[in-house]
Amino acid sequence: MRPFDGKRVLLGVTGSIAAYKAADLASKLTQTGARVNVLLSPAAARFVTPLTFRSVTHQPVLADLFDPASEDAIEHVALANAADLFIVAPATANALFKFAHGQADDPVSLTALACPAPLLIAPAMDADMWEHPAVQANAAILRERGAEFAGPERGRLASGLYGQGRLADTAQIIGLAGRVLGRGGDLAGKTIVVSAGGAQEPIDSVRVVTNRSSGKMGYALAEAARDRGAQVVLVSAPTALPYPAGVAVRAVETSAQVREAVLSACAGADALVMAAAVADYRPAEPSAQKIKKSGEALHVRMEPTADILSEAPRDIVRVGFAAESQDLLANAQAKLRAKELHLIVANDISREGSGFGADDNQVTLLAPEGAPEELPLMSKREVAWRILDRVAPLLRSGE
Ligand code: CTP
Repeated sequence: MRPFDGKRVLLGVTGSIAAYKAADLASKLTQTGARVNVLLSPAAARFVTPLTFRSVTHQPVLADLFDPASEDAIEHVALANAADLFIVAPATANALFKFAHGQADDPVSLTALACPAPLLIAPAMDADMWEHPAVQANAAILRERGAEFAGPERGRLASGLYGQGRLADTAQIIGLAGRVLGRGGDLAGKTIVVSAGGAQEPIDSVRVVTNRSSGKMGYALAEAARDRGAQVVLVSAPTALPYPAGVAVRAVETSAQVREAVLSACAGADALVMAAAVADYRPAEPSAQKIKKSGEALHVRMEPTADILSEAPRDIVRVGFAAESQDLLANAQAKLRAKELHLIVANDISREGSGFGADDNQVTLLAPEGAPEELPLMSKREVAWRILDRVAPLLRSGE
């Protein structure tokens, strides 16, 4: 959660029924290490109380500009000036109008006007309202001025109707907030291709050969690169994970599709991190129809797939993974040399609580020069940051 550490985030909540979801957002933002001050419009305060937000953020909440006796009375201009990021979630049609035209008559719109920090807006309203030309024009003015938008998403609305108007989910808002805070990070201006997930090779029209990769390590790498300012292309083989916000996702299934997507994304990129578990073999003649049970043994002839890392362009930084169940360092060294990599992340998949499917990982980083760097067991998010700590200087020296 490093992009948020010690950062001051203002969360403006305006009067949509989705205001109740802002309590979860305020809580999760606080858990990232940010200091979160919530500002409530009068209409929002009718849906959720200041006490809710104060309880989850442990910070004063600004809900009434004219009540100096309030315990929560705080200086909105000082707050605005100290902020690193201003998030408005949910933002009503009325709030978009006020931000676009500089109207300042409630704690959220008033503070927004005084705040020089980047603005991230998560609208929530009825689909017809969102699509109305007046609202679209206000959103366009704000985009033009540099505001980022999270959503709104399509789905079921509070009215019971379906359409575009749902508040973006908490993870998406936090992901985009990480990207905004990470602008100007040590990977700013760089394009990083990350592959993730486990490739699936069809046997027939319903069955596949695959592996146990969860995609968590690759997704954590994509998010970490985004939060350090990089443009990220995530080539994702199937996983059960939601796509990270703020990265360009190329969804693929087979190893051949991973190869095609990775190699085309590498053109013009600065680095490739291959966290995907690519199949080494695939059924040579997948059946177009479902194979019927015959009672006899079934032989599926497998043919080798292409090694993607070995084919990756030699003028970009290349990072591989070595998932090993034995002779970890020797095998990883051999892959580092054979695939001509700048760095390999050696991963002992026989260890409990680490590697495939786990939230944590214990890895050793090996480069062509220098001693192996054995990292302790840590979250995949933390491992991702440590890997990028090694990638960043390689990108700088390649300038
Ligand atoms: N890899 C690749 N293309 C393949 C297979 C693997 O680019 N066809 C990449 C993986 O994404 C990983 C690295 O190569 O970054 C090592 O993958 P791994 O499966 O550990 O090694 P292999 O080369 O497949 O060797 P082995 O399966 O024999 O251990």
